[in-house]
Amino acid sequence: MHRGSGNPRIQYILANCQGFGVLSKSQNRHRALFHNFCFSIFVLSMRNLFVLSLALNVSLILRTMYEREQSHHWLSFETQKGQAVQKTRLALSSSSSSPAATTQVDTQDGGEKILNLARGDPTMFEKYWQQMGDKATVVIPGWQHISYFSDVTNICWFLEPKFAKEVVRVHKAVGNAVTEDRHIVVGTGSSQLYLAALFALSAHDLPEPVSVVSEAPFYSSYPSMTDCLKSGLYKWMGDARSFNKDGAYIELVTSPNNPDGHIRRSVVNKSEGILVHDLAYYWPQYTPISSPADHDLMLFTVSKSTGHAGMRIGWALVKDREIARRMTEFIELNTIGVSKDSQLRAAKILEVISDSSERAGSSEEGESFFEFSYHLMSERWKLLREAVEHSGSFSLPEFHPGFCTFLNRVSEPQPAFAWMKCERDIEDCESFLQGHKIFTRGGEHFGFGTEYVRISMLDRDDNFHLLVKRLSAIHI
Ligand SMILES: Cc1ncc(COP(=O)(O)O)c(C=O)c1O
Repeated sequence: MHRGSGNPRIQYILANCQGFGVLSKSQNRHRALFHNFCFSIFVLSMRNLFVLSLALNVSLILRTMYEREQSHHWLSFETQKGQAVQKTRLALSSSSSSPAATTQVDTQDGGEKILNLARGDPTMFEKYWQQMGDKATVVIPGWQHISYFSDVTNICWFLEPKFAKEVVRVHKAVGNAVTEDRHIVVGTGSSQLYLAALFALSAHDLPEPVSVVSEAPFYSSYPSMTDCLKSGLYKWMGDARSFNKDGAYIELVTSPNNPDGHIRRSVVNKSEGILVHDLAYYWPQYTPISSPADHDLMLFTVSKSTGHAGMRIGWALVKDREIARRMTEFIELNTIGVSKDSQLRAAKILEVISDSSERAGSSEEGESFFEFSYHLMSERWKLLREAVEHSGSFSLPEFHPGFCTFLNRVSEPQPAFAWMKCERDIEDCESFLQGHKIFTRGGEHFGFGTEYVRISMLDRDDNFHLLVKRLSAIHI
């Protein structure tokens, strides 16, 4: 056992002890003494080693735990206002194949479940995809998608042709965007495409950054995404309604809008403006499709259309070739392309959606994705409105119905978020709801008042039903 030890310190001691083996016979007594001495040193060294390795292991475990805490930080509630020690973490399990287990919220606080509806995680759609089973399954052999390149003849050289084909097909089937004479740029979520658009649309030789604005309440990530790198090219300038600076600007038009669900148009109306249309929610489950959107630069994402936020796939429809080329350059500098595996999985999902949409109304098996999700959203908005009315402490936006060319009937807007106002002099709605163990995002994150909150309508059934139960029981 001793000889087998690979530790250099032990080997050094053993070598020295063996060295004593060449002592003369007259020194045998000393030799025995030396053996005992060596053995003691050896035992001592083993003990020291054991203590040392124990200490190292404990510090390693503590460090791993600390790093985990840190890396989960962005997933935790951002909205605490001091009082409650926050115990909620999204427990992400990579080993479990159960969809429910992969994003379970470990949320016990005083025995009552904390509802985290601050983020728009679209887990509601899981149910549909479970029903689809193998129809939406993709198998990718180990040898596939090794190259960086997808189609070197395309401006966006990392765009998978199959994905591009399905993007065009789904827009045709739904009738929500013009794709003719457009360049498709694929991105790691529409978040990456947003940054690519800012990069492409900013003049790189101007003495000061281009202003970026959006009408409040605006999507809460725009300010932080725009300014996170303190770019010299562009700068967040807040609410488009109060923007009165001369010179170049980029206006973000989010329609339907996150957080309030209203249909939006540009509001600045100055000559040097460039528009980016973020159409993440322009799909039939959220709003009536009135006509195909036909703008210079439009952003879409599977996150909110099909519910596959984890796939991290978005796409831009871009009229101008040079802008498409610069967006592609940004993504090349950023991530040298976009996951082919994800693009092909997204293509499959879009294909299933288009198939189901084209079949809608026929007697063939399988419900249309948009019919399914429209009915689910419709049911949820009905329950939410009933709960709010029963409580009497809150109010919700009202929407006008419109004709949906996809559903071929009049339909109601039913946004992915509820933009709810606390009534009865509650000034800080987020903190108030937090007291009822409902975590939301306060209005100030959207450039608006703290009497408003944004609540995700896209969580799983059990969480949504708990939400309406809790809201309807609040009476002030
Ligand atoms: C308006 C809007 N744009 C973009 C995004 C980001 O989408 P993705 O997941 O594709 O990055 C979101 C996500 O909530 C959004 O609400």
